[in-house]
Parts: sequence; structure tokens; C-alpha cells
Amino acid sequence: MKISENQNLKDYNTFGMEVFARRFLQIENAGEVPALITEYLHQEPFYILGGGSNTLFTKDFDGSIVHPVFTGIEVVEQAWDAVVLRVAAGEPWDNLIQYCIRHELFGIENLTGIPGWVGSAPVQNIGAYGVEVKDTILKVEGYVISTGKSLTLSNAECRFAYRNSIFKQELKHDFIITHVWFQLSKKKHFTLSYQGLAKALEERELPLTLHSVSDCVRKIRDTKLPDPKIVGNGGSFFKNPVIPEEKYHELQTNFPDLVAYDAPDGLKKLSAGQLIEKAGWKGKRLGNAGTWKNQALVLVNYGGATPKEVLEVAETIIHDVNSLFDITLEMEINRI
Ligand code: EPU
Repeated sequence: MKISENQNLKDYNTFGMEVFARRFLQIENAGEVPALITEYLHQEPFYILGGGSNTLFTKDFDGSIVHPVFTGIEVVEQAWDAVVLRVAAGEPWDNLIQYCIRHELFGIENLTGIPGWVGSAPVQNIGAYGVEVKDTILKVEGYVISTGKSLTLSNAECRFAYRNSIFKQELKHDFIITHVWFQLSKKKHFTLSYQGLAKALEERELPLTLHSVSDCVRKIRDTKLPDPKIVGNGGSFFKNPVIPEEKYHELQTNFPDLVAYDAPDGLKKLSAGQLIEKAGWKGKRLGNAGTWKNQALVLVNYGGATPKEVLEVAETIIHDVNSLFDITLEMEINRI
């Protein structure tokens, strides 16, 4: 375990917020976790930080930031049609994508280019272009912090939902993920339900391969989402709101072009990006923070933004969207 004090977190969060943590604990192998729990996590406030791509630090952190950096992709089962991988929490998500492309494993190629690390993927059930990670997760391994005991949760026990899981609910701040088990298919199959993806593949007249699908996804992302290495951001800042169908029909009277997708239980999922754009917030800036010019759902740090500036933009957007649509946007990003 590497320990540092008064650590600047600027390079550890893709929003590029300059805040300091009293202690910063880099976990270099999963075997260190039991001692970490008793020596530190039972004693003081803590936050588990992966790649820092879905966290907005709003102030200095008076406690321990736990940063699991151990990596590794292990094949634990091989069948004629599927492979089970056990992947360490600190493995960068995109490394896993590259591994799957090299080994012809199908299932997560649409999730190409998502920043962050494998250990964070189940927490908010990352999803893009018609695929959610929950569909390939077999189980999640780690430790319950309050008891210090190891625990493996099956897919059903993780209670995955849209950008949600048990790790954001009952086990919030009480579980440290060490490994995620994935079941990936050796049989060729693709998810091309997202219109823009099917269209891009068709236009480029490429053969349907893992490589071409992954490449198209990366190109679509590049046109819509800012590269956090260049412009600080944390991906989608808000969740897409899910509303009753009647409410959607009411809104259509004034906004006939509102985008909506079917959600479970007969509900409709709207596009927060579109609502924000209609509220006049696409590519708009307040001080050093604002929204991205190609995707209003992404809040960005235009350079030197403070947490206060980002929160002010977020709160103004929530207010303006609420005034126009009577819908309260919920933040997707973790605020610390
Ligand atoms: N739209 C607008 N204006 C905008 C943004 C979007 O009108 O400024 C419209 C688009 O034209 C489109 C619809 O909204 O008709 C949906 O937009 P998009 O396909 O870009 O996806 P999204 O719903 O805004 C979600 C995920 C993204 C994921 C994309 C692609 C959430 C909160 N976000 O965004 O995930 O990449 O779908 O599948 O569900 C993330 O979670 O960090 C993230 C980037």
C-alpha cells in the first residue's frame, strides 16, 4: 500500500477539480484490503476512487481516498461458446475492451472508449449504444467494509438497473470491489439497436467485426463527447429522466419533437441532453464551467473551474429544465 498525505486530487479526477485529500491510499493488491479496512476505513471517513471519471469533488476531503490500482485479466473458464474472465478493479476499462477484441470475445464492444476502471463499471452499471455492462457481469467480488468480510455477489444480487446497482444503494460506502467476473461470448453477435451505430457502420461499408464496431463507437463518441484529457468532464452529468407515459404525452403538446424511449413498467425515458438543450443550455458557459457544445448532458471544466462554478451551472440547469418541463433532473455523477 502506498500512502501519501495532503494529496492533490487534480490528476485523479477527469473533471480536473483541484482539491486535496488528507490521506491517499493506493492499494497495490487485493490482499491488502482486510488490513486497509481495519487500520483506516473503520477509523475515518473514506471514499473509494477508481479512474475518477464519474466523481465530482466539491471540496477538500478530510479523510482517506482509497485508490485500488491493482490490474490483471485472468481467464477462469473456457467453454466452446463462452469465456469467463476475472478482472481486477484497477484495470482500465478500455484495456478490457482491447483484450476482448484481440481474443474475439463478444458483448462489451459497444462500451468502447468509456473512461474509468473495471471496478467502477458495476457501480453505476455503465451503458452506451444499446448495451449495459450488467448483461455480461457474472459476479462481483470484494469486501464488506462494516464487517471486514469478503463477499461475492451474483448478478441478481447486484440489483442492476439503469445507472444503478446495490453499490449505489444498500452497499454504498460499505463495499470495496476487488474483481469483476465477466461472461463473454465466443459466438459472433452484435447489438446494433442504437440507430447512429447501425447507420455509421452501413455508411462506412465495413464488414461487421468486433474491430469495426468498436472503431465506429469510438468515432461516434469522439464527435459527441469531449476527451477528458483535453477538456475536463465526467461524462453524462445527469441521468435521463424516466416519467409516466401520460406526462410524456402532455409534454408533446408543446414539444412535439421530444425524444423518448420505452423504459420498464410502461414508463418513458426522455433525453436529458435534449431537455437541457431546449432550456437554452447547450454549449453555454458560466465562468469557467458550462456544457459541451455537442452534447448538453456533459458539463465541462473549460479550464480552472472550481467545484462551486460547476455546481452553479448544474443547479441553474436543474432550475431551468424544471421551469420549462416540470421535470427535476437527478445527478448521475457522484458528488463528494
Ligand atoms: N440530444 C439533444 N441535445 C443534446 C444531447 C442529446 O437533442 O445536447 C438528443 C440526441 O439528438 C438524441 C438523444 O438526445 O436523440 C440521445 O442522445 P445521445 O444518443 O447522445 O445519448 P444520451 O441519452 O444523451 C446516453 C448515456 C451516455 C451514452 C449515450 C449513448 C446516460 C445518462 N447517458 O446519453 O452515457 O454514451 O447514451 O448510448 O444514460 C455516461 O453515462 O457518462 C454517458 C456518456
